[in-house]
Amino acid sequence: MARPRLLLLPLLAVAAAVLSSPLGRALAKTAKKSNDIVNGPLLTSKINAKRTLIVGPEDEFKTVQSAIDAVPVGNTEWVIVHLRSGIYREKVMIPETKPFIFVRGNGKGRTSINHESASSHNAESAAFTVHADNVIVFGLSIRNSARAGLPNVPEVRTVAAMVGGDKIAFYHCAFYSPHHTLFDVAGRHYYESCYIQGNIDFIFGGGQSIFQCPEIFVKPDRRTEIKGSITAQNRKQEDGSGFVFIKGKVYGVGQVYLGRANEAYSRVIFADTYLSKTINPAGWTSYGYTGSTDHVMLGEFNCTGPGSEATKREPWSRQLTQEEADKFINIDFINGKEWLPAYYY
Ligand SMILES: *[C@@H]1O[C@H](CO)[C@@H](O)[C@H](O)[C@H]1NC(C)=O
Repeated sequence: MARPRLLLLPLLAVAAAVLSSPLGRALAKTAKKSNDIVNGPLLTSKINAKRTLIVGPEDEFKTVQSAIDAVPVGNTEWVIVHLRSGIYREKVMIPETKPFIFVRGNGKGRTSINHESASSHNAESAAFTVHADNVIVFGLSIRNSARAGLPNVPEVRTVAAMVGGDKIAFYHCAFYSPHHTLFDVAGRHYYESCYIQGNIDFIFGGGQSIFQCPEIFVKPDRRTEIKGSITAQNRKQEDGSGFVFIKGKVYGVGQVYLGRANEAYSRVIFADTYLSKTINPAGWTSYGYTGSTDHVMLGEFNCTGPGSEATKREPWSRQLTQEEADKFINIDFINGKEWLPAYYY
């Protein structure tokens, strides 16, 4: 698998602008029906689905949700739902009763699900929701295009993706929202070479997840006076959950913490990761949390860059030893060898 490149800020801005611009929409309209399928050959061959449902303006399925709806309840064999290039302006939900769906886009710069929704509830606001187990997503941007919420109004949640099933993997995807971008609720998850943008608590929940080679971009919104955290992992007792970031890059505009202790056993590890100066020298915070930090495991291992200086770190945060890090920076942390069609090693 290709390693992610460090993109320069202007390039990112341009890429983001193109996706949502009239040009992006025009591209979507003129996409040729023939030769317009990028199929992620490795994943596609490993998954070996018998059925492919194609979504596009001139195809059987005009919306992503109508294709998901066509998958039978209690599905037991992999079905590909292929999204041609373009922007799909809809809210998408894969219900618990429909496992074994492979949602395949043409690439995160070409296929996008955009939905604008702000709510007082994370789940209600989500543009893309997975409740089923065994779902794979490739080459797709998922965007909640709601404007940033203000602190004193209830509709502050603007989730891009809510991931609640077990054994869910995203490859080469992108997640955009002003904040609360990725609600990684529960279950074993794998995110490879994904781009995640947000501001406050933007990767949060009780998932047991590996983020392999992620690009994390911190972008301010109108609430930047609250110094946000990238992560808020809510492990409540000694279970297998936790967020593990490996060989990624964290950068952006404005200053944030790597994570926040928000439950007694919150667990987040950044390993072999480049941290730009967008990381507050304290590294971690317990903002809004009044409990003990004795059992939280918020730590770093072998990170580099100006944001990795450990001299002013919160005293309860951790710099892991190689031995401590080994059990996290390993695909076995999510039992990946048992269920992932492909993984980076
Ligand atoms: C630390 O990270 C660098 C890359 O930043 C890598 O080359 C090196 O192998 C890592 N060291 C350990 C002990 O894992």
